[in-house]
Amino acid sequence: MGGVATFTKVGAMTNHPLDHAHHRRHSPAAERNAAPILAQLQRLLPLQGSALEIASGTGQHAAHFATGLPGWRWQPTDADPQALASIDAWCNGLDNVRPALHLDVLVEARDSPSSELPEKVDAIYCANMLHISPWETCAALMLLASRHLAPRGMLLLYGPYREDPAPTAPSNLAFDADLRSRDPAWGLRRLADVLHQANAVELRLRERVAMPANNLLLVLERSLGPTKDSAWA
Ligand SMILES: C[S@@+](CC[C@H](N)C(=O)[O-])C[C@H]1O[C@@H](n2cnc3c(N)ncnc32)[C@H](O)[C@@H]1O
Repeated sequence: MGGVATFTKVGAMTNHPLDHAHHRRHSPAAERNAAPILAQLQRLLPLQGSALEIASGTGQHAAHFATGLPGWRWQPTDADPQALASIDAWCNGLDNVRPALHLDVLVEARDSPSSELPEKVDAIYCANMLHISPWETCAALMLLASRHLAPRGMLLLYGPYREDPAPTAPSNLAFDADLRSRDPAWGLRRLADVLHQANAVELRLRERVAMPANNLLLVLERSLGPTKDSAWA
């Protein structure tokens, strides 16, 4: 996989010569959905805080959100070491974004916690990872959230889900079939299964926001604690 690439909705990558000089990968989907997601984040989040982003991908979301939420400090991460240069390139010049960290949630959950991550954050944001990784990443993500979210922190999950018994949109069914053909461990997750994993670490669904193109933004909150305990390590 080269350093110059484009994610399509199914994660395939194509060359994008204009971005070459800046190491920026480009995702048309992230370009489309960044504005509607930011509008929701601006509605949901307070003016100031700290966020840990899991699976930042190209870095377009990190750059867009850190610009639109200037009172927030943003820590992007990704499991793909080659993604880090792209994230940093997109976020270049933004004072409220830290250099991207290498973070595989499966490794992080299994081994001892990374000392590089902020100890506590007000929000954890993760888009489009659960269906493009094995199901075990869901429990790992929840464990991470339980470790790193401040008492009143939010876990924000964006992506497509199955909501059985409600019918799944044809576009999502086709996406699911494509994902499974590429890797049998991938595929759209059932919302109920994701919430079950969340509840196991005391995270509760506060809001389910319907987003364009049959995606959801899920707002999960830790059970309320008495104090705000956010720290930017
Ligand atoms: C489809 S991309 C989504 C990128 C970005 N969040 C977005 O919505 O545009 C999926 C990302 O998940 C990351 N990923 C997959 N497995 C992971 C894991 N175990 N831990 C952390 N990130 C992971 C991949 O490296 C990839 O960047």
